[in-house]
Amino acid sequence: CGIIGYTGKNAAKDIMLDALETLEYRGYDSAGIAICESGSEQTRIYKCAGRVKDLRNLCENKTIEGNCGIGHTRWATHGGVSDENAHPHKYEKVTVIHNGIIENYRDLIRKYDLCDKLHSQTDSEVVAAVLSHFYTGDPYSAIQKTVLKLKGTFALGIIFEDMPGFVFAVRNVSPIVVAKTESGTMLASDVTVLGQYSKDYFVLPEGHILTMKADGAELCDMSGEPVLPEWLTISWDTNRSSKGGYPFYMEKEIMEQPEVIAETIEPRIKDGIPDFAEDEIPDSLLKDCDRVCVVACGTAMHAGLVGKALLQSLVRIHIDVELASEFMYTDTIVDEKTLVIAISQSGETIDTLEALKYAKRNGAKTLSIVNVRGASIARESEYVIYTNAGPEIAVASTKAYTTQLAVLYLLTGRMAYVRGIYDAGRAREFARELLRVPQVVAQVLDRREEIHYIARGILNAKDVFMIGRGLDHSILLEGSLKLKEVSYIHSEAYASGELKHGTIALITEDTPVVAVVTQDKVQSKEFSNIREVQSRGAEVILLMKETYTLDKGTSWAGIFKLPAMRDEFMVMPASAALQLLAYYVSLDKGLDVDKPRNLAKVVTVE
Ligand code: G6P
Repeated sequence: CGIIGYTGKNAAKDIMLDALETLEYRGYDSAGIAICESGSEQTRIYKCAGRVKDLRNLCENKTIEGNCGIGHTRWATHGGVSDENAHPHKYEKVTVIHNGIIENYRDLIRKYDLCDKLHSQTDSEVVAAVLSHFYTGDPYSAIQKTVLKLKGTFALGIIFEDMPGFVFAVRNVSPIVVAKTESGTMLASDVTVLGQYSKDYFVLPEGHILTMKADGAELCDMSGEPVLPEWLTISWDTNRSSKGGYPFYMEKEIMEQPEVIAETIEPRIKDGIPDFAEDEIPDSLLKDCDRVCVVACGTAMHAGLVGKALLQSLVRIHIDVELASEFMYTDTIVDEKTLVIAISQSGETIDTLEALKYAKRNGAKTLSIVNVRGASIARESEYVIYTNAGPEIAVASTKAYTTQLAVLYLLTGRMAYVRGIYDAGRAREFARELLRVPQVVAQVLDRREEIHYIARGILNAKDVFMIGRGLDHSILLEGSLKLKEVSYIHSEAYASGELKHGTIALITEDTPVVAVVTQDKVQSKEFSNIREVQSRGAEVILLMKETYTLDKGTSWAGIFKLPAMRDEFMVMPASAALQLLAYYVSLDKGLDVDKPRNLAKVVTVE
């Protein structure tokens, strides 16, 4: 969920509606604002199921005057998508917006006898009710007492009806950032939205109470002691937050890849060799570990799988990739000889953040690969390498993924070098090929209409299978996720050799198969597996390295020849092609490419 709060000289309604639009990638099933009405001690709430544009329509032609308010865009957890369950929630004098999950909300309903008094099915309304229970005119005391009763994660924005002009906030795990703007003071879930108003911000520390007034913000700890905020600067190119003439952010972000991959790689090649000196990563971190363990979710986890294949074969180090959401609950073994690498675009995914904390508690060294500067995961890990993807707005991740891959290539090259597997010559050779990636990816993007044409082959499919071996399989897991996310077509990525052990039963002439063949050492086996599905009637779309030759007489639903690179780098052009495939299917189906149903870009609940 995305949260926003404002108090200042300007109309709160307009600022909040604009901010909520920017925050929509955190959730977009309902939206709402609460405004302290000017000249009265009343809080007015406007909220509805649907997008922020629906909320805008709801607010149109209404006189909503007030310079202080809170707003929310929701990704439903407790309680379905409905007007009542949309935030803000008001209980007597207290109105709240909430991001997170209150795990003990049922106990609280019982304890404070709220059963017949609530209007929604959310855990968040319960917080408003408990705050109200403790509120006798002193907001600090009410917040302190309430926080002690809450179990779970929360970022709360709070207004008290008899304290117009004030916004309060408190958090546990879920993020809140705060900025002083020209016209007032603002809080939000992340800096993307604050960047338009101010370059300076601070992160609300956990377990502290924030008081916002028009002329600034104050912090105190739970015992009421004042605390000085630690101000940070936003280094973020806000131009990259616009669509730049493309119909969808996803297309724009796919097309930006050559540039952002270059921006991620080039500053980290010194004297021709991958180098992390400017990121302040000591070589000892890469040298002294026995084992690497990647923790991540979704697309970032898929980037980790490519990293695994690279590090394992080129650095010969043991590496595991763990789903962050499973990491802690499967008693994963990590110790001081393990380097735990957390990968996250947003740097806020709670499962990844919690996995990182677990790794630290167990003595592991921690390094994160993050896109958003200053995000929680970056702050929590000992070392951080930033991808230079710039703001990624489309929910389906594209340029964040390939820049994560770029960092993993750099890490592979540096690790091989500092561990003595590569001499300077081989390290330079590796880096030279890596530096070619932007131009090779650009060649694929220039031919995007070919992929658009091929995409027609899966437009009406119900199920799609994607097959490949080794690195080809790793990237197909991501290619398949992309297709599912944006086109709603059921799709599964399979290691080609495994298909015949059961799943081939599902292959019919109505099941298109996407095959990726880019790895010399397994290409002949991959072609055999393709023939197996073709014999069962499947129409195959083939993405293959341009240097391979095909048997005469075989018919294909589509062929795209990928520009050749060294095998381990073929991941990059092939990934770009798979992203375009998913994009064009979604586009031609007329779907909302950037905001697929049920998804959110930043997932701050476990
Ligand atoms: C969500 C997004 C995915 C993303 C995943 C991990 O599910 O929809 O696109 O890969 O979270 O996000 P992170 O910000 O940690 O990379």
